[in-house]
Amino acid sequence: MSEEKTQNTVSEFPKTKAVILVGGASKGTRFRPLSLDLPKPLFPLGGKPMIEHHIEACARVPGLMEIILLGFYEESLFTSFLELTSERFGVPIRYLREAKSLGTAGGLSRYSNAILSGNPGAIFVLHCDIGCSFPLVNLLRFHVQKSPEFTILGKVVEPGEARKYGCMVKDPNTCELLHYAEKPSSVVSELINCGVYVISPWILDYIGQIRNGSQSPNRVSFYMNRENDIIRLEQDVIMPLAGKGKIYVYEMDDFWAQVKEPKTALRCSELYLAYYKEHKPELLTTPTTSLRARMDGLLFMRNQKPTVGLQETRLNIVGAVYIHPSAKVESNAKIGPNVTIAAGVEIAAGARLKDCIILEDVNIKEHAFISHSIIGWGSIVDAWTRVQGTAENPTIFGAGVVTEAEIVVRNCTVLPHKTLNESCHQQIIL
Ligand code: GTP
Repeated sequence: MSEEKTQNTVSEFPKTKAVILVGGASKGTRFRPLSLDLPKPLFPLGGKPMIEHHIEACARVPGLMEIILLGFYEESLFTSFLELTSERFGVPIRYLREAKSLGTAGGLSRYSNAILSGNPGAIFVLHCDIGCSFPLVNLLRFHVQKSPEFTILGKVVEPGEARKYGCMVKDPNTCELLHYAEKPSSVVSELINCGVYVISPWILDYIGQIRNGSQSPNRVSFYMNRENDIIRLEQDVIMPLAGKGKIYVYEMDDFWAQVKEPKTALRCSELYLAYYKEHKPELLTTPTTSLRARMDGLLFMRNQKPTVGLQETRLNIVGAVYIHPSAKVESNAKIGPNVTIAAGVEIAAGARLKDCIILEDVNIKEHAFISHSIIGWGSIVDAWTRVQGTAENPTIFGAGVVTEAEIVVRNCTVLPHKTLNESCHQQIIL
């Protein structure tokens, strides 16, 4: 059942907190060159910062006390985003910084006092680098009914896909997790760990015991990580507790995707747009989207007020598209499907855009063609230029890339502030 359509009362649920694991600068390296200019958790998917999807879902949970971002980025990178988002969703949000990477469980133990203050009955833990419908209310309801120590959101994927993730075997009747294998070399199961959990406060004690050595996960890899103070939820906590009546799996069939490299961001953004189409069509831009409707979309990435180019004219839109209200799109440009256009972008007459993410302040000139690409902040794509890629090998521009007119850029990654004055194919432009 869709969460938007369920009625919940606070008394049905325990008080909860949510911890979002955002990692740090050394973690998002596969996301370069896009992570050179913006921390990966703030990269827009479906027109809003990746992590805003998590926050919005957490804010819908009745009885949620607080959201904590846990990571080892500079704190200041998130300050203004957190202030705005906290106000918008009416929930306290704060950032807790690990001095260095402590793994997916280490920081939970390091900050257990902060997390447990106010006595939450359960804690959501969410990986940041995923896109999902985040059925947190249903997940919590399942957790309350089963009352385990640990509930994992799971999803069945294609057999060939499963081995890239944590694979789980559950009891078909009780849903108890019987066996867990992280990125196994052979097929274990098609049911994968989505990186969204509800845990009881006891789990933080358990991680603390692992940390101080009184509880041993008894695994060689754990001792290898021990020197770095790293404790991982998957290998060091979930694996040893599987089959012991403590962990259950809540299986969903909604969309889910991991965001590691830029190409997966394009795919994930597409999944969010498709999700809006089904569940929140008001968030999408349509040919006749009026100024009012677009303002109500609540998709202002940085709370900017609309400035230029808010058109009441018909736009030439195909399929699921999001255009920020402040973007100026000429009505005879053709946009979509799977396109997001951020604040301050200008798109000239005759331009054709599909399957792309256009970041803030990009300028796309007359008759330019862009497909399967991400165009970085402030870039300029000159007239009649083609920037194209494929789903497997998109073209990625870092910030401030400038192309000359009438060239073709195919399947290239271009580092920030480069000028392209001739056509290129399958290159990394350093
Ligand atoms: P890889 O394929 O190796 O990236 O493994 P994975 O897909 O299991 O992801 P990983 O465990 O590296 O990260 C899962 C989530 O936890 C991501 O959102 C990371 O940003 C976050 N994360 C990873 N390591 C840390 C850490 O040391 N501290 C914090 N706070 N978050 C982390």
